[in-house]
Amino acid sequence: MNGYKRYLITSALPYANGPIHIGHLAGVYIPSDIYTRYLRMKGMDVVSVCGSDEHGVPITIKARQEGVSPQDIVDKYHSIIKKSFEDFGIAFDIYSRTSSKVHHEHSAEFFKHLYDKGEFIEKTTEQYYDSEVNQFLADRYITGTCPHCSNDSAYGDQCEKCGTSLNATDLINPKSTLSGAVPALKPTKHWFLPLDKYQGFLEKWILEDHKEWKVNVYGQCKSWLDHGLQPRAVSRDLDWGVPVPVEGAEGKVLYVWFDAPIGYISATKELTPDWEKYWKDPETRMIHFIGKDNIVFHCIVFPSMLKAEGSYILPENVPANEFLNLEGDKISTSRNWAVWLHEYLEEFPDKQDVLRYTLTANMPETKDNDFTWKDFQTRNNSELVAILGNFVNRALVLTHKYFDGKIPALGELTDYDKETLVELPKLKAGIEKNLEVFRFRDALREAMNVARLGNKYLADTEPWKLFKSEPERVATILNISLQICANIAILAEPFLPFTSDKLSQMLNVESLGWENGGKADLLPVGHQIGKAELLFEKIEDEVVEKQLAKLQATKAANEAKVIKVVEPQKDTITYDDFMRMDIRISTVLAAEVVPKTQKLLKLEIDTGIDKRTIVSGIAEYFKPEEVVGRQVCVLVNLEPRKIRGIVSHGMILMAKNSDGSLRFVQPNEAVDSGSGVS
Ligand code: 2FM
Ligand code: ZN
Repeated sequence: MNGYKRYLITSALPYANGPIHIGHLAGVYIPSDIYTRYLRMKGMDVVSVCGSDEHGVPITIKARQEGVSPQDIVDKYHSIIKKSFEDFGIAFDIYSRTSSKVHHEHSAEFFKHLYDKGEFIEKTTEQYYDSEVNQFLADRYITGTCPHCSNDSAYGDQCEKCGTSLNATDLINPKSTLSGAVPALKPTKHWFLPLDKYQGFLEKWILEDHKEWKVNVYGQCKSWLDHGLQPRAVSRDLDWGVPVPVEGAEGKVLYVWFDAPIGYISATKELTPDWEKYWKDPETRMIHFIGKDNIVFHCIVFPSMLKAEGSYILPENVPANEFLNLEGDKISTSRNWAVWLHEYLEEFPDKQDVLRYTLTANMPETKDNDFTWKDFQTRNNSELVAILGNFVNRALVLTHKYFDGKIPALGELTDYDKETLVELPKLKAGIEKNLEVFRFRDALREAMNVARLGNKYLADTEPWKLFKSEPERVATILNISLQICANIAILAEPFLPFTSDKLSQMLNVESLGWENGGKADLLPVGHQIGKAELLFEKIEDEVVEKQLAKLQATKAANEAKVIKVVEPQKDTITYDDFMRMDIRISTVLAAEVVPKTQKLLKLEIDTGIDKRTIVSGIAEYFKPEEVVGRQVCVLVNLEPRKIRGIVSHGMILMAKNSDGSLRFVQPNEAVDSGSGVS
């Protein structure tokens, strides 16, 4: 910690395409907040920056799915995420966003500087192009058959069924998800950062000079370096992002992983005119807090960009965490398998510290870890309530009872008193030692040990039994107990900021600086303390059961979707059975909702044989105006049936998606009405 004048703390910029959950908090933002709070309490010059990562293809996909603009999506989630951070006390000095003007300007300038220095390689490659919508297709906008497992809805960057990473050109029968058209390869120019040029520098800087980095981080870097680095494209054909600031780059933007880390710089620039001091002076210690999926970008790509630019410092450490699971399963946004922060706060509006505590105690520092509601309850009831809360409450209540809430005088100390007090600076040192090497779980354990020390001290000295016979001894015991409480207010602050604030108020003291931790004379004799309130309350079984039931319902819904996909095959029929069905391509001429129903549409159909009425249960998925003019497949020789008083002459064939939604079975090109389907 010595030898540096100031600290720059960065926390991975979350994508603004969804709210954030406990995995984000445990992996990145709680460790960064604990560390920042600790540095601030020590009086260090520290700046902590973060913001929303608002570019990239997933945001454009989400916008398309919701029928709104990418800007609408990022505006919505930027405010949700920002609020969640504020609610949980994640105290950044600035929470900015990459769609800001400062960021667009700074990242364009950064690119231009590298471009002018000749740091990029210009290459023309072939990319899929959709000529119906006149645009190049990002890999995620292409689907097709996976060459490895034959899954016919693999994406251009990955098959989600077998997990293989793919190139869009690997897909069999590629299709554009924008128009359904078959895309064609077309040449396009892009700029590449030649990472291979930095191989030697990175090997020395990481593998030799930063052997102290966490094993998971060092190991991942070594593996990348051992495989040999390749040039990486830093631009994309996309209309959402920072436009590439050179001539001939129309329709191209900076790759999101090029501009996002520059977001750390632009956020600092927005925060202070002194930003260069934090980014360019070697006496600044920069630490990147991230999750394990971001290691390569923060340890290899971004440092190469900074090195290429030439005037910036490099990170001193990148203490990436592994992942947090939930009740034994991977957290997943698409399966809604997560505890969302805004939802947690609806259920537990004043229990931010209980979650902070549980997530720190289970932080996935060296391996993936699990969050369970049972553990959350146990940590609260057996640790926060039974140890910390109980100790503080007893010390304060007894002081009110025996000494009118005034700090009583210290008498002669027994050996046990001295042994207890001597522990305080040791515990403080233990917290510091662990925090300085990013061992947050161990640091929290040491902070809790301060409460354990106090709890044991009170249980062993039993002042409630002594007041009549030895009031002076009770005064000493309570003085010592209250000094321990004041130590908790200081030493637990980085981990439990809400509790620390409340405790300081109860002790009637301003927040005390870190330098006071370990001392036994923080509260002077005669100082009046405030009212004793409970710091934590027990969480009952029903509360936890409700959360488990919610997850169970999510699981059941997810399983139901899977079951639909694998519906068992029906009984065998003969060829003749099949041939008895007369299916014709037909055209919808008119449509209206059947009055007083929500699911039924009355359709006028041209079957090619005749014009007839069919009633179909598709109104939940299609508006009448969406179906008029469509070609559909109709089972025309189905026995007529009366539905809601209307005779229906046939059935429209529909495909049912795994989520129960319906899609038309229709020819992919126009076919004459009346054509048979077999
Ligand atoms: O993985 C992610 O959520 C990215 N949005 C992190 C970006 S970190 C930084 F580079 F901005
Ligand atoms: Zn596959």
